[in-house]
Amino acid sequence: MKISKKLQSWVDECAALCKPDNVHWCDGSEEEYNKLADMLIKKGSIKKLNESKRPNSYYAVSDPSDVARVEDRTFICSKQKEDAGPTNNWMDPAEMKKKLNEIYDGCMKGRTMYVIPYSMGPLGSKIAHIGIEVTDSAYVVMNMKIMTRIGEKVLDVLGDGEFVPCLHSVGYPLTEGKKDVAWPCNPEKYIVHFPEERSIWSYGSGYGGNALLGKKCFALRIASSMAREEGWMAEHMLIVGITSPEGVKKYIAAAFPSACGKTNLAMLTPTIPGWKVETVGDDIAWMKFGEDGRLYAINPEYGFFGVAPGTSMDTNKNAMLSMEKNSIFTNVGLTDDGDVWWEGMTKEKPAHLIDWHGKDWTPDSATPSSHPNSRFTAPASQCPVIDPDWENPKGVPISAILFGGRRASIVPLVNEAFSWQHGTFLGSSVSSEMTAAAVGKLGQLRHDPFAMLPFCGYNMGDYFNHWLNIGKKAEASKLPKIFYVNWFRKDENGKFIWPGYGDNIRVLKWVFERLAGKDNYEDRAYGRIPSKNAIDVSGLGLSESDVEKLFSISKEEGIEEVNELREYYKMFGDKLPNELNDELNKLEERYKKM
Ligand code: OXD
Ligand code: MN
Repeated sequence: MKISKKLQSWVDECAALCKPDNVHWCDGSEEEYNKLADMLIKKGSIKKLNESKRPNSYYAVSDPSDVARVEDRTFICSKQKEDAGPTNNWMDPAEMKKKLNEIYDGCMKGRTMYVIPYSMGPLGSKIAHIGIEVTDSAYVVMNMKIMTRIGEKVLDVLGDGEFVPCLHSVGYPLTEGKKDVAWPCNPEKYIVHFPEERSIWSYGSGYGGNALLGKKCFALRIASSMAREEGWMAEHMLIVGITSPEGVKKYIAAAFPSACGKTNLAMLTPTIPGWKVETVGDDIAWMKFGEDGRLYAINPEYGFFGVAPGTSMDTNKNAMLSMEKNSIFTNVGLTDDGDVWWEGMTKEKPAHLIDWHGKDWTPDSATPSSHPNSRFTAPASQCPVIDPDWENPKGVPISAILFGGRRASIVPLVNEAFSWQHGTFLGSSVSSEMTAAAVGKLGQLRHDPFAMLPFCGYNMGDYFNHWLNIGKKAEASKLPKIFYVNWFRKDENGKFIWPGYGDNIRVLKWVFERLAGKDNYEDRAYGRIPSKNAIDVSGLGLSESDVEKLFSISKEEGIEEVNELREYYKMFGDKLPNELNDELNKLEERYKKM
């Protein structure tokens, strides 16, 4: 293995601090993966699923206290507090380093320290970047192998180059004969980012985004800060290619808060004939300007880490097929024949399961078999509709950007921004009902600008400004058009009006037509919407008044929303770009004229 001096000395420093029994450099081979799996099976940490049902796949359950991202324990430690901004937790970097050096001291005693070289993005792509994760969790290594490109080949590309150092520990040293447990973790958790030195320290959790540091920590928090400095974009967005019946193909990126159906949209099976959707990514997009002045996106990831409950052959057939083999399942139910099940997977519930607490479960049980944030980790290459260009190092050209949230009222099914600046305003206004992806209050409405609230590695006001600057860098005709969608609008009886899932293609079709310059829109106060009959609702059983309900926002509701946003904007103080205030004032004027 070619290891640069800089890398070796950082790994030596980690070992001196964490004091593991062994250090293992991951080569990324199948053999290594299988050995780690066998070791974890012997320890009782994971189980192998029935080979004839789900080949080469594993089952894990976490400690019940370690099930989701811990946003209140996530820190952006920039030198100046102002640079972390009002939406992030901040601590002085020197003080945080002192604290971390105390808790990491000897934190890997009795364990192996794994060194994982990984690439976010196709190896060698100009848009890709390399990280090195040091971890004491073999489960994390296994997941990282699916979620990123890991091993020796990454070191070959890295050479003496720059990497993002990511130090992870579950915080459960095996000191003085202490016995290991199936899912080691620590009640004290720290997920810490140092944007100026581009490094990550994560302690105490073995779950998802807290521990697979390429994903949220690097590809969003650190990368967003790099992107601002270097003039590109790191966004919480899926990327899809859409082909019309005429054979025209366009790529769209879409930002939604966690657990709002991004994976479903990324792999959508169209319900109207002739349309095709292909997946580039389901969670994160890195976008840079190409030589032709357009924005090109790559998916920095290599796998899907999707929410399991609700995923089925009806709601997301392609996700189900992606995880047929070579996958890992965490916190779902285990069937009697050694396979997995979760709420919503099949209409008929299995008569008996072992639930994620390891207890017997039957359909009469009072609690669900699977945790609401239980996950599957599956290779993206196994997705039946993976886009032929998903690994193109140049990325794919983006023609439209969608924002969306989970909103029962006020936000229409779809509207198009009048301009990039108006679109930036729409992105800043995203709010959504909270889901189980993060520890917090379910269902509560929270602002989640650009779906980046927990993922922006710097001051959100500066992030808004970065978006406006991107718009100023390119010719308007080359920039993606911006849209805002909401699949979750409910009627007066609390029922979803729009069917969602595969029928969302009907909305994408209108978006597609708008990209082609079709004149099938009308202007409302809040934005541009499909003109009458421009959205094909045939066969959905929606009445004209249902369709109108999907788009209606009264003058009073609109003005109330403006006032609420004005209040919200106050937190950004003088970091709030004037352009966004102008957009808010213009929106208010348009509502007043209604
Ligand atoms: C995710 C999330 O896991 O956004 O993608 O929480
Ligand atoms: Mn996400």
